[in-house]
Amino acid sequence: MSKEDLFRKIISHAKEYGFIFPSSEIYDGLSAVYDYGQNGVELKNNIRQYWWKSMVQMHENIVGIDSAIFMHPSIWKASGHVDAFNDPLIDNRDSKKRYRADILLEDYILKIEDKINKEVAKANKRFGENFDEKMYRETNPRVMRYLEEIEDVRTKMNETLGNDDLVGVKALIEELKIACPISGSRNWTDVRQFNLMFSTQMGSTSEGAEVIYLRPETAQGIFVNFLNVMKSGRMRVPFGIAQTGKAFRNEIVARQFIFRMREFEQMEMQFFVRPGEELKWFEYWKEERYKWLGTLGISEEKLRYHDHEKLAHYANAATDIEFDFPFGFRELEGIHSRTDFDLKAHQDLSGKKLQYFDPETNENYIPYVVETSIGMDRMFLAIFSNAYNEETLEDGSLRTVLNIPPILSPYKVAVLPLVRKDGMPEKAKEILDDLRFDFNCQYDDKDAIGRRYRRQDAIGTPYCVTIDTQTMEDNTVTIRERDSMKQERVDISMLSKIIGDRLKANIYRP
Ligand code: GAP
Repeated sequence: MSKEDLFRKIISHAKEYGFIFPSSEIYDGLSAVYDYGQNGVELKNNIRQYWWKSMVQMHENIVGIDSAIFMHPSIWKASGHVDAFNDPLIDNRDSKKRYRADILLEDYILKIEDKINKEVAKANKRFGENFDEKMYRETNPRVMRYLEEIEDVRTKMNETLGNDDLVGVKALIEELKIACPISGSRNWTDVRQFNLMFSTQMGSTSEGAEVIYLRPETAQGIFVNFLNVMKSGRMRVPFGIAQTGKAFRNEIVARQFIFRMREFEQMEMQFFVRPGEELKWFEYWKEERYKWLGTLGISEEKLRYHDHEKLAHYANAATDIEFDFPFGFRELEGIHSRTDFDLKAHQDLSGKKLQYFDPETNENYIPYVVETSIGMDRMFLAIFSNAYNEETLEDGSLRTVLNIPPILSPYKVAVLPLVRKDGMPEKAKEILDDLRFDFNCQYDDKDAIGRRYRRQDAIGTPYCVTIDTQTMEDNTVTIRERDSMKQERVDISMLSKIIGDRLKANIYRP
């Protein structure tokens, strides 16, 4: 199956099985805004809970907060968002379509990467088992030429974008002969900056109303609460503050389903450290966050680091963890060493001292910050696309299954009486009542058992408990495991322990 087909199937499966719906669909939708359905919200809650447990509850020196979405407008002045949270935009005069200039350039690079991948695939076919992909990539003249071209475009792109040289960005687009994908023409306007923050007004009268912003990241809510948490929690550096919550960005290029949305959710943690120790902690969090993704069944081949060459003015190290989405490798999580930029900026603008007294060194200082920031919706898409599988079974039938890590599955257990008689439904309800406080369970007694198993496979339920004739005789049931489809017979009294133990296998430990 091609990647495009896979992506289309994932989107329609998400809708058909109640995971994700386009927002306001009966009014033809609202671009780049999505709603989570009855199964989607369970998966989303589980991702959030797993992150929270891993980052907050399993670390003694990390606590969580939940700050408001509305914040004082000066916060966004201090953080630099009012002046510099911009995307470079360009319009095509013929199609009247608007694009992000940096994305046009990124897409150009992706096309060259595609050509390389096609060369590699062809060579792989030609040489068969003896094919050494690494050597081929390093020595084949055509591939080397493509790589040089990528390097050249990247350098020019970083230079122009990094220096805010919008004339240079347009010149590069023209030099590369990039055409509008809709009109096919190269009739471009100049490139200009566009601020991504949504604003609204607070106050009852139009004269007295104040312009405030919907937060474009959750991180600033942590910075402005640094002092409160440090004092009230008697925190000692190094320590972290985490939060999850909605963020809003007026994204111009909004596409690729829930990958880039206008309203989305972030899970962020700011780790406050002694100045000079930030790079050590940056390496630590880089590894930990990669390990965390691994505990969710995401294999090494689907993850990679992308270290930033061109750093933001406030960072002294930054990396993205990229995931191989159905449309290629893209940023899933950012890990940034943000120095003392944010706390210092808030200290300067607010006039409040945002410092820490270090009892070990007897010094006052503004701590440095290492941030981990992952998009909830991107994590959802990573889990969902990693889990989606179509299998041909021995009898030739097709099974669509979501191999979601059991700890994240919307439902952990489906309780299924084999038939709707002979006391089986009553017995099944007893089991359901026993399990449902600890595990999210579903009861299903409609259709043949095989069809019921398929329905549970399609929403990723890891365990199906079936009540049959033997249950009524000896109090045993079968547990069917989603991935292997194997069934085993166990005593009802052991169900809770067996399921609980299996869910805990392979969880993240710092
Ligand atoms: N506080 C740092 C920060 O916000 P970012 O790289 O702009 O950094 C962090 O965003 C993460 O938030 C990204 O890695 C991505 O997972 C997610 N994210 C950013 N913009 C998004 C959008 N428009 N839609 C969905 N997720 C987004």
